[in-house]
Amino acid sequence: MTTHRRWTLARRPQGLPQADDFRLEEYDLPEIRDGSVLVRVDFISVDPGMRSRLSADSYAPALSLGATVESAGIGTVLASRNPKFEEGAKVWGGFGWQSHFVSEGRGMQVLDPAIYCGPVHETCAIGVLGIPGLTAYFGLSDLGKPKEGETVLVSSAAGTVGATAGQMAKIEHCTAIGIAGSDAKCAYLREIGFDHAINYKTAGDLIAALKQAAPKGIDIYFDNVGGETLDAAILNMRKNGRIVVSGQIAEYNTTNPRGIRQTLPFITQRLKMEGLVVYDYSAKFNEARAQLAHWIRHGKLSFREEIVDGLENAPNAFRGLFTGEAFGRRLVRVASA
Ligand SMILES: NC(=O)c1ccc[n+]([C@@H]2O[C@H](COP(=O)([O-])OP(=O)(O)OC[C@H]3O[C@@H](n4cnc5c(N)ncnc54)[C@H](OP(=O)(O)O)[C@@H]3O)[C@@H](O)[C@H]2O)c1
Repeated sequence: MTTHRRWTLARRPQGLPQADDFRLEEYDLPEIRDGSVLVRVDFISVDPGMRSRLSADSYAPALSLGATVESAGIGTVLASRNPKFEEGAKVWGGFGWQSHFVSEGRGMQVLDPAIYCGPVHETCAIGVLGIPGLTAYFGLSDLGKPKEGETVLVSSAAGTVGATAGQMAKIEHCTAIGIAGSDAKCAYLREIGFDHAINYKTAGDLIAALKQAAPKGIDIYFDNVGGETLDAAILNMRKNGRIVVSGQIAEYNTTNPRGIRQTLPFITQRLKMEGLVVYDYSAKFNEARAQLAHWIRHGKLSFREEIVDGLENAPNAFRGLFTGEAFGRRLVRVASA
């Protein structure tokens, strides 16, 4: 018998998620049947976008009370009665906050050793080559459509989505400006090639700080944050500017969003604003992953991961996404090989 631990949603969070919003449950897993595999989960992700689904419907329905909290994961096949998965194989998929699971393999893929080798770590499958990296990839290329010489502003730039979007802007020969919440995060942004980094917590007047960094204006704003930062960006947009709405993390913990107040520049500067749900691009995920992996191997794209140890710490790791404590792709190590 394998003891299975999982975090379920105990109640719908009000504001910043609290420990009591989640419940750690433990029970024995049944033996596997023909066609099934037993997977030990090694790493899980914590994702800002999950916050909305803990309270209400989002791009996907709200998580039910009592359901396992959903996330990406990487694991190892411990036992298999399914010819597609050998014992010992490393797999990834939407595993959720749990220690083990029994599955028939739907939605689960074996990590391709041709991709996940050298500088492209296995954990990249649920980080820079996973949903966050793909969001940057399709958001910037398909909606932002950067052209050489343009200026690209990115918020929450030290997170995986933001850092990837900023480095892609540099690959496209644009000027990249990042906004982040600490001096250490700003130093990191300069290290990975951003031309300017602004600490929004100490910058004072963000509208003026953006004007100083982009005197000719911003062509593309890749928005992960919303709220006041979005308004400051709108006031600095250049004619025909594009605003890519990737996320609105400043609004996720409130039922009373601040929203956008600066709308006139949409007329005067002929701005366009468009959001994306990255899953709409799933038919092109493999192509994009190969490109992102190629950039990593050729030193054009770097990534930062932050590992929190222990499944029991998943709720705290999640909460840290909304306090600014998280720095890079936050993963929870559930088990070590
Ligand atoms: N559209 C899609 O399909 C899609 C898919 C995946 C992710 N996303 C979105 O992309 C965004 C970035 O995701 P990620 O995984 O890379 O996470 P992330 O940027 O690392 O998110 C955590 C960071 O957000 C910043 N933050 C938290 N609260 C904030 C606030 N009130 N105001 C400003 N910044 C705040 C903090 O950094 P600072 O210290 O810099 O404040 C924090 O460390 C999220 O909004 C996410 O929902 C969208």
